[in-house]
Amino acid sequence: SPARQPVFVLVGGTGDLALRMLWPSLAMLDQDGFLSDDLRVVSVAREAVAKTEFLGRVQGAIEKRINKDLEDGTLDRFLKRVSHVALDASDPEWGNKLKAELGDIDTLDIVYFLSVSPTLFKPICEHLETAGLSRAPNRVIIEKPLGRDLASSKVINDSVAHAFEETRTFRIDHYLGKETVQNLLALRFANTVFEPLWNAQSIDHVQVTVSETVGTGDRLGYYDDYGALRDMVQNHLLQLVCLLAMEPPSNFNSDALRDEKVKVLRSLKPITADVVKEVTARGQYGAGFAEGHQVAGYEAEKGSPSNTETYVAIKAEVANWRWSGTPFYLRTGKALPSRTTEIVIQFRAVPHSIFGAAAQPNRLVIRLQPDEDIKLTVMNKAPGLSADGMQLQPLDLSLSLTNAFDSNGDKPSRRRIAYERLILDALNGNNAAFVRRDEVEAAWTWIDGISAAWAEAYPKPQLYPAGSNGPISAHMLLERDKRVWND
Ligand code: BG6
Repeated sequence: SPARQPVFVLVGGTGDLALRMLWPSLAMLDQDGFLSDDLRVVSVAREAVAKTEFLGRVQGAIEKRINKDLEDGTLDRFLKRVSHVALDASDPEWGNKLKAELGDIDTLDIVYFLSVSPTLFKPICEHLETAGLSRAPNRVIIEKPLGRDLASSKVINDSVAHAFEETRTFRIDHYLGKETVQNLLALRFANTVFEPLWNAQSIDHVQVTVSETVGTGDRLGYYDDYGALRDMVQNHLLQLVCLLAMEPPSNFNSDALRDEKVKVLRSLKPITADVVKEVTARGQYGAGFAEGHQVAGYEAEKGSPSNTETYVAIKAEVANWRWSGTPFYLRTGKALPSRTTEIVIQFRAVPHSIFGAAAQPNRLVIRLQPDEDIKLTVMNKAPGLSADGMQLQPLDLSLSLTNAFDSNGDKPSRRRIAYERLILDALNGNNAAFVRRDEVEAAWTWIDGISAAWAEAYPKPQLYPAGSNGPISAHMLLERDKRVWND
């Protein structure tokens, strides 16, 4: 049979995520030659907008995001692919109307991106199914919040699974689309020097930090019902833990990879009410000063009391042979002094120091944001003479990915939007960088344990001033283990 024509259907095409991320990502894929010549992009939204006005909005969004990297001709070429259709999910004819817009569906290869509230996944998937629009090879992309606990995530996944089987369901965790996150796999599995040391015998502990300077802003309505544990740890931080802790998969195929990730999630030691105050820290930002502005504090912004945490730190344990005895300290929060995503692999001290106490253990620091670099701290002899024995000094073997790759000639190359890679992978039917249902559920199982333990034994987050380094309890968490955060 002749090749099907690819179609990208963006449901929620006038929404915030679409304008900030998805339209610019599609245009960039087009500019870089990744979109097949016959790909069409069909936007669906409740709002009826005339075609010229709609294309004007899309163009504005692309120009705003891409700015100086936009080349002549990109907009013209891209906008020719785009059409918009106004449909309301409560309309029983939703599916048939979309079908009329799409044409002969047996000749199409459709990817749907549901950039809408998860409460609409069910009606939309039903419409797609009823109209015959969800049949193979068509695929669907969905994104969090996929529930706020295991039970509600199952309801959402079930409603999608009715129309699209698992291999055709692409769950986004946008961290997996980041260049440096993908590079973790290359670092671990394309080198021999790290893997023999990548275990509890050589590694004392691991730190994963995702700190943000922003507060909750205009997302407070959503955020207050979720908090940092559900918003960040359940997905992004645990995905990083998976990539750091997993066994080497036997190949790079999506199920081999995800089989290993899900084993890590299932190995996470449950956190129960009797230990929760020792192994977690919960914080909420109060009044302070962040990003150069006075911040009123989370409750003041909300206008009513709240026990939602905007900061969380956790001592996580991957209870298996490789990692037993090596804690993974995770932390993330809002209204902190810097925007940083960083992984620290702290190696153990030399078993016997012939230089006295001066030898500091090696440390591998992988920075994902804002700059992308990798540093390995190694001990050296301090240059020169000394009357009392050899002096040591730590120095960094340092690899700046930004400097090594991020330039072409004298023009620094653009930093890609994580959605570019993810959309491209979905168009190509490659789901390795998407989260499988069993991963989502294993992650929720562990997270639900923590929230239940909090409800019982740690109901109130500790205040930290906006712009400070988080609550005292987060520092105590490491101090109890005679360790410190890498600040
Ligand atoms: C989102 C969270 O998933 O990730 C936000 O909902 C958070 O609260 C964002 O700000 C952080 O993503 P990034 O790519 O800016 O690190």
